[in-house]
Amino acid sequence: MDPTEHMAAGPRDTENAIVTEDAEPVVIDVRDLVTHYPGNAEPTLKGVNMRIYPNEIVCIMGGSGSGKSTLLRQIMALDRPTSGQVRILGHDLSAIGHRDMHELRKKIGVAFQGGAMFNSMTVGENLKLPLREHAKLAEEQMDIMVRMKLAFVSLDPETALKLPSELSGGMLKRAAMARAIMMDPGLLFCDEPSAGLDPAVSAALDDLILKLRDVMGMTIVVVTHERASAFKIADRIVILDKGKILMSGTLDELRATGPKRVQDLLDGVPEETEVANWI
Ligand SMILES: Nc1ncnc2c1ncn2[C@@H]1O[C@H](COP(=O)(O)OP(=O)(O)OP(=O)(O)O)[C@@H](O)[C@H]1O
Ligand SMILES: [Mg+2]
Repeated sequence: MDPTEHMAAGPRDTENAIVTEDAEPVVIDVRDLVTHYPGNAEPTLKGVNMRIYPNEIVCIMGGSGSGKSTLLRQIMALDRPTSGQVRILGHDLSAIGHRDMHELRKKIGVAFQGGAMFNSMTVGENLKLPLREHAKLAEEQMDIMVRMKLAFVSLDPETALKLPSELSGGMLKRAAMARAIMMDPGLLFCDEPSAGLDPAVSAALDDLILKLRDVMGMTIVVVTHERASAFKIADRIVILDKGKILMSGTLDELRATGPKRVQDLLDGVPEETEVANWI
């Protein structure tokens, strides 16, 4: 299949856009990935093949326990695979050296579920953490960057002075997004960005994710249970089922050619053994 078929409309040559030098512009290339947690009878991921292309938003969906978080942890390079290969921006994660990994981490932003902010620090200090790790900047420069990123995610500058516990759920998710983009990463991972938010706040976060793709030229991988959100933002949806990719394509492709299990997942029909996640 022509890989450009998967590419979304949008800027491809902005400063932050990832343009790989390979003949095929692949940002993430997952081959035959198997993840078997010690002590478990079966592997969690049973041979996953997946490619993510520049400037697309890919939503990973699937029932509870299907392996979404495990897959995300593998492509965020937080865990090593049992077998198979993960390549990110041309780097084979199984062979990458310490220095290249440090450089790679600069190019990857992560917005964890629940924000994952340090509660003892102000939001501003939390946002400065990636800058302290990866850039040598004066305090005043960092303050300016914090204000710029807060503005980008539609938060007031005063938010920097608050503690994470003083923010609403929606504001916390925005702040987490601001921290994830502090280094202007080309690649952004979001874990359940709109889970637990009311529909209006959730829709605003969807708009923010679209803005990151369209204005910043980012490639974005989102794990989500929120069907409305995925349908709105995804250039492509990857459906995981019991550790394997059941199908991958645009919503229209999944609707047109997906087997019943795919249609059920898209319609929010839970498996008998599955609980509320898809409702
Ligand atoms: N660290 C771990 N050690 C052992 N087993 C694990 C570990 N992490 C996940 N698993 C198992 O792997 C399977 C998939 O887990 P995973 O968290 O990837 O699923 P998920 O699709 O993200 O589910 P959910 O939608 O509930 O978040 C589950 O059966 C889980 O028990
Ligand atoms: Mg999960």
